[in-house]
Amino acid sequence: MENKFFLVFLLCSLIVANGVSGSMMCDNNNFGMLEELNKLDAEEENEIEELSDIPSWTSQRGGKVLVNVDSFGAAGDGETDDTEALQKAWGVACSTSKAVLLVPQGRRYLVNATKFIGPCKDNLIIQIDGTLVAPDDPKSWDPKLPRVWLDFSKLNKAVFQGSGVIDGSGSKWWAASCKKNKTNPCRGAPTAFTIDTSSGIKVKGLTIQNSQQMHFTISRCDSVRILGVKVSSPGDSPNTDGIHISESTNVIVQDCKIGTGDDCISIVNASSNIKMKRIYCGPGHGISIGSLGKDNSTGVVTKVILDTAFIKDTTNGVRIKTWQGGAGYVRGVRFQNVRVENVSNPILIDQFYCDSPTSCQNQESALEISEIMYQNISGTTNSAKAIKFDCSDSVPCSKLILSNVDLEKQDGTVETYCHSAQGFGYGVVHPSADCLNSNDKTSQVHESQSITSQDDDDIRHTEL
Ligand SMILES: *[C@@H]1O[C@H](CO)[C@@H](O)[C@H](O)[C@H]1NC(C)=O
Ligand SMILES: *[C@@H]1O[C@H](CO)[C@@H](O)[C@H](O)[C@H]1NC(C)=O
Ligand SMILES: *[C@@H]1O[C@H](CO)[C@@H](O)[C@H](O)[C@H]1NC(C)=O
Ligand SMILES: *[C@@H]1O[C@H](CO)[C@@H](O)[C@H](O)[C@H]1NC(C)=O
Ligand SMILES: *[C@@H]1O[C@H](CO)[C@@H](O)[C@H](O)[C@H]1NC(C)=O
Ligand SMILES: *[C@@H]1O[C@H](CO)[C@@H](O)[C@H](O)[C@H]1NC(C)=O
Repeated sequence: MENKFFLVFLLCSLIVANGVSGSMMCDNNNFGMLEELNKLDAEEENEIEELSDIPSWTSQRGGKVLVNVDSFGAAGDGETDDTEALQKAWGVACSTSKAVLLVPQGRRYLVNATKFIGPCKDNLIIQIDGTLVAPDDPKSWDPKLPRVWLDFSKLNKAVFQGSGVIDGSGSKWWAASCKKNKTNPCRGAPTAFTIDTSSGIKVKGLTIQNSQQMHFTISRCDSVRILGVKVSSPGDSPNTDGIHISESTNVIVQDCKIGTGDDCISIVNASSNIKMKRIYCGPGHGISIGSLGKDNSTGVVTKVILDTAFIKDTTNGVRIKTWQGGAGYVRGVRFQNVRVENVSNPILIDQFYCDSPTSCQNQESALEISEIMYQNISGTTNSAKAIKFDCSDSVPCSKLILSNVDLEKQDGTVETYCHSAQGFGYGVVHPSADCLNSNDKTSQVHESQSITSQDDDDIRHTEL
């Protein structure tokens, strides 16, 4: 890994030495962010070792106190309302040192929208081996909690683990979505599992499925490790992002298998130091940074690594999406060792993202996208524009680097589309990224395609 970066630096020195055009990207500090990404790698390896040390609740070590939801009157039959039992069990577990809140295996607990609020005593473990299931009728959802189902906040050093399932029973919510039927109002729906305003969190092994909307949101958190989590919902379920990371730092997502109807992983505003490793994604809309910059807002995302992913039967592979009119930046991103299969847009930067029932106005301002590296990305696409850098006219993308990219289409040729994008490729890059070297704002194969006429349904889907 180190030597690949060395190679880029070396290449830069050569470019500078030879005065080749493009040397502007090799100025001092230009790779600062990418260099820092390497450090994140190093930090991560240490964290992983620690991960294997998570005590299971059965371990005798450290005198754990078992708090079984069944002891608080839960029926676990999937029909009786177990909300109160779970709330009571939470109250006890949260206020007890070394507690293990147990949702036992082989049973289903019907639970309403609930906020589980810390801070709690040290070393809390939430052991979910059974199934937590949401009531399926949107009409009887608690109007005070319209956007969450199981919402955990203000936790410090807590572990969520187990072989259990968090099931949002989302099908009626999906049917009521304006994406399913335009006569429906566009309304937000609950996120199945939220961890908010917390730090030192580990989530291991759970399955989250059929969420009403997003499956698992990490917001306003620092230091989160997600390991071996599965997300599963149908490819046509609307807005069901798998793992959504917002305003969070130092997050590691590894060995996760995600199949859903929206982004497998989405990383949005105020997130930094995000590492994804060994991710399986599909069906879904791929792995995304964004959307960012909606309604003229400022969005900042820095230092993101995706290392080793298999992305199959998705509309996008690795994507950065921003709305026109935003401010802020995306800087320091590395997508590497990615295999794609039957993916429509394997590599995509879309600065004209518009996910609104009404079309979006053209605007001057935009987020600035720079220092984005694509390394060892290969496989099959089902659209001709395998690589698409569609950047803002006023704020071009810069320092886009491709190395060892090899994308093929089953029938026909592939091409790279560049609009207001600058950077370079080295090693094998297929389709060629030559259009990055051009200083023209637009250099593309088919001039006829206008940036406002993206007919791609995915790009134009309605965000709530
Ligand atoms: C769960 O929601 C249902 C439907 O709104 C309601 O009747 C019930 O009282 C709620 N349970 C609790 C414990 O609040
Ligand atoms: C959309 O919803 C309307 C009103 O509920 C209904 O009449 C119509 O049949 C629905 N269309 C589809 C395609 O489901
Ligand atoms: C982006 O994050 C910053 C810092 O947390 C926050 O102040 C700002 O309101 C966020 N912007 C949006 C659009 O949420
Ligand atoms: C964003 O800014 C543009 C240009 O100043 C303005 O026309 C538009 O109404 C603004 N949009 C929102 C949602 O504030
Ligand atoms: C390709 O992926 C799409 C979903 O994007 C899926 O509907 C289709 O069946 C897949 N094709 C093959 C040959 O697997
Ligand atoms: C390139 O990525 C693929 C897919 O993740 C991986 O199997 C392969 O080992 C990678 N090659 C190198 C040289 O790292």
